[in-house]
This record gives sequence, C-alpha cells and structure tokens, in this order.
Amino acid sequence: MNALTQLLGTEHPLIQAPMAGVQGAALAVAVCNAGALGSLPCAMLTPETMERELSAIAAGTTRPYNVNFFCHTQPEPDDAREAAWLFWLASYYEEAGLDINDVPRGPGRVPFNRAAADILERFRPKVVSFHFGLPDIDLLERVKSWGSVVISSATTIEEARWLEAFGVDAVIAQGVEAGGHRGMFLTDDLTTQIGTMALLPQIVAAVSVPVIAAGGIADAAGVAAAMALGASGVQVGTAYLCSAEATTSAVHRAALHTEAAHHTALTHVFTGRPARGIVNRVMRELGPMNPAAPAFPLATAAMAPLRAHWEAHGSGDFSPLWSGQNPSGCRELPAAEITRDLLPGFSGGR
Ligand SMILES: Cc1cc2nc3c(=O)[nH]c(=O)nc-3n(C[C@H](O)[C@H](O)[C@H](O)COP(=O)(O)O)c2cc1C
Repeated sequence: MNALTQLLGTEHPLIQAPMAGVQGAALAVAVCNAGALGSLPCAMLTPETMERELSAIAAGTTRPYNVNFFCHTQPEPDDAREAAWLFWLASYYEEAGLDINDVPRGPGRVPFNRAAADILERFRPKVVSFHFGLPDIDLLERVKSWGSVVISSATTIEEARWLEAFGVDAVIAQGVEAGGHRGMFLTDDLTTQIGTMALLPQIVAAVSVPVIAAGGIADAAGVAAAMALGASGVQVGTAYLCSAEATTSAVHRAALHTEAAHHTALTHVFTGRPARGIVNRVMRELGPMNPAAPAFPLATAAMAPLRAHWEAHGSGDFSPLWSGQNPSGCRELPAAEITRDLLPGFSGGR
C-alpha cells in the first residue's frame, strides 16, 4: 500500500492509460481484475456507447476503475481555415478516388459535458481522469460530489501546480515520450515538453499530491526507475496497445511490430493538437506539424475518409498510429499478463 493505492483503492499503483480509439471496456476489465486500475476513455464515445461500455465494466469487475475525458474548449468552426486545409489534402483525395466535397463535418471529439456527467453519476466510478486540464468548476465539483477521485495530466511544472491548485487528488506527469495526445493545456510551445526522467522529479518536488509517471514506461525496470524518481505510481499506455483485449486495428498493430515503430514524432495533422505517433506518409509529407491544420479537434474530419480508404487497402499511411517512444512492451498477450510483468518494478525488481 502507498498513498496512491490508498487513493485509487487498487492492489497495485499501476494505471492502464485510457486510450481513445483503441480500447473499450474489455481492456479496462482485464486490468482491473489483475489488480491495477483499468481505464475507459470516453473522448470518442457517443452517450449511448459510453453507457454501454460503463455497464460492461460494472458487470465485468467489482474493482475500482477509471473513466477518462478530454476537457478542451471546442473551437468555433473556421470555414476559411478548413477550406485551406482541404486544399492541402486535395491531391490525396484525388489519388484515392474520393470526393473532397463529401468531407464529413462534425466535432470529432467532444469535451466532458453535462450529458456525460449525467451518465457518469449513475456509475460513480472510483476514479475520473481528465486530459487537457480540467472541466469547468461546476462540472468538476459535480464529479467530486459523488466521491470520485480526480486526476489529470501535467506536461510542465506549471501545469502540475495549476492542477493541484484546482483540487486534483493526484497528478499524472506525462513525459514527452508518451504516445497519443500531449495533455498540455497552459502552453502550446513544444519546447516546454520534456522527457519523463526530467519532468517527474521536478513535478514531485513542486506538488504535494501523489505523482503518477507516464511516458516511455514499458517494463518492470521502467516502473522501478519511475518509482526511484519519486513517483507514487505509473500510467502505462503503449505497452497495452497489442494486448488481446485492445481494439487496436490490424494496420496499427502491424506497425507497432516493425522498425517503423522506432520512428515516432509529435504531429497535429490528424486532430489539430500535438500527439505522438509512428511516422507515416501523411506525417512525412504534410507535417509532422503544419500551421494550416484546423484547430483541435476539427482537423479530424478531413482525414477520416482518407484513413478509412487506405485502411481498407491494408495501409496505415493516413491513420493516426499513436505510439510512445518505447514500443518494446507491445506484445500480443492478454492484458493480465502485461500487467503482471510490470509489477516487479514496484519492489525494485526487473
Ligand atoms: C493510442 C493512445 C491513445 C491515447 N488516448 C488517450 C486518451 O484518450 N486520454 C488520455 O488521457 N490519454 C490518452 N493517451 C495518453 C496516455 O494517457 C499516456 O499519457 C501515455 O500512453 C503514456 O505513455 P506511453 O504510451 O509511452 O506508455 C493515449 C495514448 C495512446 C498511446
């Protein structure tokens, strides 16, 4: 037991990172039943799907679980900027035989809102985690009112202090090695984004709540290193991407097992916000960062038809192949085994 297991109510201070788009209830249940904290990412779920997945977790485990949301501010659609972005994508649409006038419009990812809180209140999960800061104070207070522990990601010392000041129970220190979206919310300056080994001890020194290390942790030695640097626990994402219970696509799984997985970059061509993924054709040719990309999450819509087209042809050239810098933990195994293999790190072992 340590401060984090007491807070989370788990056997081990290990959190399976919520990973929108590549997992649902099955992964969360498997990890919870293995004694760690399984997570359900809700950023891309409709209310109906969210309710179904939460019911599946409630039916699958009696252990504590985490439900995760994005809490960005939804931007005003900007027709001129979106049209300019389509200009960049036009030749790809032509190559794929797709009609650029058929680009779907839609919000892409929806931030935590009242409708989600209404559903969540019925399940009252032990833990609720946020990415991109925290929701408005009234929503935050609502989540806390039914007793959920609240955690969120910090990518800088300032963000960690901000989260503590607004009342989080623990801070996730997300190093720049991490796969998926940077949780950055007080800055968009990528030069502030530093590695887990540099970020973690500085955040541990800056806040008094427990700190959870995330980014690049893929085995028990990595867990031990994070704990030695003052972490109270770890959050691991990429190592679960090829687990039996993840819904990671075939092209994504295949890429994680190739040499390509050793070439990742931060890109915002898929969503409008920087996220780490395996470098593929569209990242190479349009980015990885491109000032023309629409604001998060509006860039998602224009890439979706290209992604669907090429994935149907077995190609991940237009897919967000999210991955951290350390894919060495990606194994096609049940999540319980992946969890079990990380645990010796908590007693200093490998
Ligand atoms: C495929 C993928 C999707 C992710 N989606 C989310 C998400 O929906 N919410 C979130 O808070 N973090 C998300 N993350 C970031 C993780 O919470 C975590 O910071 C990261 O996985 C840790 O680094 P690692 O991937 O090197 O283990 C995602 C990461 C990956 C790899």
